[in-house]
Amino acid sequence: MAKIKVLSVTSEIFPLIKTGGLADVAGALPLALGRLDVEMRTLVPCYPAIREKLKKAVLEHEFADFYGGKARLLSATFNDLPLLLLEAPHLYDRPGNPYVMADGQNWPDNAARFAALARAGASIGQGLLAGFKPDIVHAHDWQAGLVPAFLHYDARPAPKTVMTVHNLAFQGQFGPEWLARIGLPPQAWHTDGVEYYGTIGYLKAGLRFADKITTVSPTYAVEIRSPAAGMGLDGLINARAGDLVGIINGIDTRVWDPGSDDALESTFDSDHFGARWANRKALQERMGLDQDPDALLCGIVTRLSWQKGLDLLLEAIPALMRLGGQLVLLGAGDANLESGFRAAAATYPGRIACEFGYDERLAHQIQAGSDSILVPSRFEPCGLTQLCALRYGAVPIVARVGGLADTVIDANEMALANGVATGIQFFPVAREPLIEALTRAARLFAVPDDWQLMQTNGMNTDVSWSGPARRYADLYRSLLGRAA
Ligand code: ADP
Ligand code: GLC
Repeated sequence: MAKIKVLSVTSEIFPLIKTGGLADVAGALPLALGRLDVEMRTLVPCYPAIREKLKKAVLEHEFADFYGGKARLLSATFNDLPLLLLEAPHLYDRPGNPYVMADGQNWPDNAARFAALARAGASIGQGLLAGFKPDIVHAHDWQAGLVPAFLHYDARPAPKTVMTVHNLAFQGQFGPEWLARIGLPPQAWHTDGVEYYGTIGYLKAGLRFADKITTVSPTYAVEIRSPAAGMGLDGLINARAGDLVGIINGIDTRVWDPGSDDALESTFDSDHFGARWANRKALQERMGLDQDPDALLCGIVTRLSWQKGLDLLLEAIPALMRLGGQLVLLGAGDANLESGFRAAAATYPGRIACEFGYDERLAHQIQAGSDSILVPSRFEPCGLTQLCALRYGAVPIVARVGGLADTVIDANEMALANGVATGIQFFPVAREPLIEALTRAARLFAVPDDWQLMQTNGMNTDVSWSGPARRYADLYRSLLGRAA
């Protein structure tokens, strides 16, 4: 049977450009799908960070005037990833973060920048490129949310569409003055179109017009139907519930492989678990923590944002210190949270250490060297750091929300008795339950055999993309009316 051709449209892709888990997903899913007879190519803006890393690109199409300037579509391959690059210097030739300026403010023309991305995706879907006409266009997050809307209003033969929500908190809302400038017709300005509380809602548009909607865990797929987590879109999401599925993310087990990871002091696997200890020592040394073998060493790798519940962790730090724990944090983002953790590190030298910024190698070292990884998120569509933790033998301590609820087996009495626990969950997401979870963790950590069983259970959990990719492939097949 012919391969299914899918165009993935995304604003970031690992290892070329990344601000969060979306990039990891966009970079790993095509390779996993390739093994299942799905040919996925990825359309991404050609930011400077991408151009610098590509050696060779082939011209596929030229636009004389595309959202205010010349643009080209180029094809290239990077690390086995087939790419289509939207090169539009007037929109994307800007250094640094893909969404915000150096001062952290959004680029004022983001409405045009990501309408252009979606417009290019929709046009490729309609057959713009002779060499690649996709059966399905798969749009990720608000940055690609207009793809299904353009295809709807163009009223031309169109491919099927899938809209994946990685985080409902980011919706891409822009003033109505953009409607004509981004190329949508006047009739799109309607609550049954792209209008969303007086703005053009890019994610709303995707949710409204995509053939199928996915989100990145089964629990989040349920949560976003409630007003509490629906962020104003729960009404629309409920109306579309028949087309909504939750598919858990995987992680790229080549990038995250403790058996071959060159960022580590010592590689290890569940059969050579003793070798893990050297990473703990090295982490304590690098971060200036006391070389204390009995301290529960908790690690965090995160964006510093309200979503991640780190303010609750700040409140729980005195309790963690009383329990004899240590804390190492790698994070970037909110300045208030940063100064909170800076102050904590100053109060507890040798027991709390922080590094602020984005550091891929340190992220791996924290996963390999920590006894536990904390993820106290208020909401978490999927979460990848707990999956990395499982794979690297760090016991995740997580809030029981979204994908965290779906991927960690809580060490309750039953799970312990059956020897299947992989981590610790707490709920509701508040200071006291978090402290209780830390207390439970410290108690379990004091019994090395129990703790190590959780660690190796985690390492033996399948967190790869093979299961999730199969679910996406089945979804594509069902959209095309093909048998699984
Ligand atoms: P989100 O996408 O909401 O930020 P995820 O857990 O899905 O959360 O994905 C975060 C990804 O970014 C993971 O691959 C994690 O290792 C990485 N990451 C987050 N913060 C940092 C940081 N400060 N330095 C290095 N990697 C980070
Ligand atoms: C978003 C979510 C995170 C998810 C990631 C990849 O950034 O916040 O939970 O893992 O997307 O899907």
